[in-house]
Amino acid sequence: MNASLDKALDAIRRRSPRRTVFFTGAGVSAESGIPTFRGAGGLWRNFRSEDLATPEAFARDPKTVWEWYEWRRELVRDAEPNAAHRAIAALPGAVVVTQNVDGLHARAGAHEVVELHGNILRVRCVREGGTFDAPSAFDVIPPRCACGSLLRPDVVWFGEMLPDEAVARAMVAIRGADLLVVIGTSGVVYPAAGMVSLHRGLSIEINPAATPLTTNCTYAVAAKAADVTPQLVDAIQEACHA
Ligand code: OAD
Repeated sequence: MNASLDKALDAIRRRSPRRTVFFTGAGVSAESGIPTFRGAGGLWRNFRSEDLATPEAFARDPKTVWEWYEWRRELVRDAEPNAAHRAIAALPGAVVVTQNVDGLHARAGAHEVVELHGNILRVRCVREGGTFDAPSAFDVIPPRCACGSLLRPDVVWFGEMLPDEAVARAMVAIRGADLLVVIGTSGVVYPAAGMVSLHRGLSIEINPAATPLTTNCTYAVAAKAADVTPQLVDAIQEACHA
C-alpha cells in the first residue's frame, strides 16, 4: 500500500472537499496509449516537441510539422479514455484544467473542461483565423483551407499566448478550489505550470516521478493515474455524502 496515498485519502476524508479541480498533463493519457512528451517514448523521429510545436517550425517546414500532428491525431483517434479520465468525469461539479490537446476528458464525459493548449482534432486557417473540427486524416499534407491558405492544428505552440478565456476560467476555478489534484504533468511548461501555485489549501499530485510541482503539493502520490485516481474520487464522493 502506498503510504502517501493513505495520507492523501485521510486528508480528503477530513476536509470533505466540495470544489475539486483536476490539473492534468500528458501522463493522465499515458495509459490510453498516448505517449508523453518527455520521458520514454516521447520522441518522434528524434524531434522534441519544442522543435516542432512552434510557429517558426511551421513557417519553415509545415509538411514535417503536419506529419507529426497526423501521427499524434491518429493516436488520439484510436485512443479511449482510461480509468483516470472516467473517474474524473464521474465526480459531479469537478472542473478539469488540462494541458492536453487529446480531448479525452470530454470524451469520458467530464462536465467542465478547460483546454489551455487547444485541441488537436480542430484546425484553424492561418489567414482567416476560422476554426473547425477536422478529426479525420487529411488526404494532402499540409492541408489547406478553401481560401487557399494553410490550415494549422488549433493548438497553442511554444512562444504563443494561451487563449484568454481558458486562462481566465482556469484561474477562477483553481483559486476557488478546496482541492487541487495535479496529475501527470512534468510541470516545466509555463505559463500552464504556474497555475498550480495559484491554489492555496489541499493539493495532491499523482505522478510516478517527482516534478518541480511536487514540493508545492500537500501530498505527492507516486503512482500511475489510472491506478489511484478512481480511489481518490471515491474518497471525495464518500466524504461529501457522509
Ligand atoms: P510531459 O510529457 O512533459 O510530462 C508527463 C508527465 O507525466 C511526467 O511527469 C511523467 O512522470 C508523468 N507520467 C507518465 N506516465 C504517467 C501515468 N501513467 N500516470 C501519471 N503520470 C504519468 O507532459 P506535460 O507536462 O503535459 O505543450 O507537458 C506540458 C506541455 O509540453 C504539453 O502540453 C505540450 C508539451 O510540449 C505544447 O505542445 C505547447
